[in-house]
Amino acid sequence: MPSAQSPPVHVAIIMDGNGRWAEDRGLERMAGHAFGVDSVRSAVKAAMELGVRYLTLYAFSTENWNRPSDEVDALMDLLVKSLAGEAQELAKKGVRLRAMGSLDRLPQGCRASLAEAEAQTSKCDRLNLTLALSYSGRWELVEAVRQAIASGVDPKNVDEDSIRALLAFPELPDPELLIRTGGEQRVSNFLLWQIAYTEFHFTSVFWPDFRESHFNEAIEEYNNRQRRFGKTGAQIQRTSS
Ligand code: FPP
Repeated sequence: MPSAQSPPVHVAIIMDGNGRWAEDRGLERMAGHAFGVDSVRSAVKAAMELGVRYLTLYAFSTENWNRPSDEVDALMDLLVKSLAGEAQELAKKGVRLRAMGSLDRLPQGCRASLAEAEAQTSKCDRLNLTLALSYSGRWELVEAVRQAIASGVDPKNVDEDSIRALLAFPELPDPELLIRTGGEQRVSNFLLWQIAYTEFHFTSVFWPDFRESHFNEAIEEYNNRQRRFGKTGAQIQRTSS
């Protein structure tokens, strides 16, 4: 079980390894994505039990548009079906669902399902579940610069707060913890601005196998780390005593 420390407020997850999980079993890659939906449920449940307030999942990156079109179509279809099937349950649990990304690239049916799920859960605030969809950190920063230029902002007034205000969801706190499943140890263009001081937890578990125990392990490891934000260990000891 996680230690008694307060849980991170915001956990972000790069859900990786669906394709390899399926290939290991002689299945189509899509089977891995379909089983991955159960892991999303497990992560939501674990986050809620620990009192995590924000959970952000990298569900489809800008780069994922380059996958074979039948995989892209099937993923979109899975997303529509999952959202339609899950939104009511999420609302009952107090989960607010939102999607962040270049959503105008999504098929119309997918956008409609998202809009419906967002409306159904809009009053909830026990857990804020953000799906990063057709998203990348660089896309988000390019959009922010575009908005700044379009609004004629004076360069003298540009600072960290004014840039943050132009991010896709400026109200999301920076994640204290980023989990990546599937064995790779890279960031893959996720939340580039927000992860400046984030702790990383890499696990070789493929996403379809990821369960509450794995989530709890990541939190426990996080709880045992000392976050310094550029300070020395002695400075941290002084402020925490
Ligand atoms: C990465 O595995 C995973 C994805 C690109 C899609 C993630 C989607 C889901 C978990 C399904 C549904 C999600 C929701 C929110 C309903 P990969 O295909 O890159 O795996 P590989 O590295 O083994 O090839």
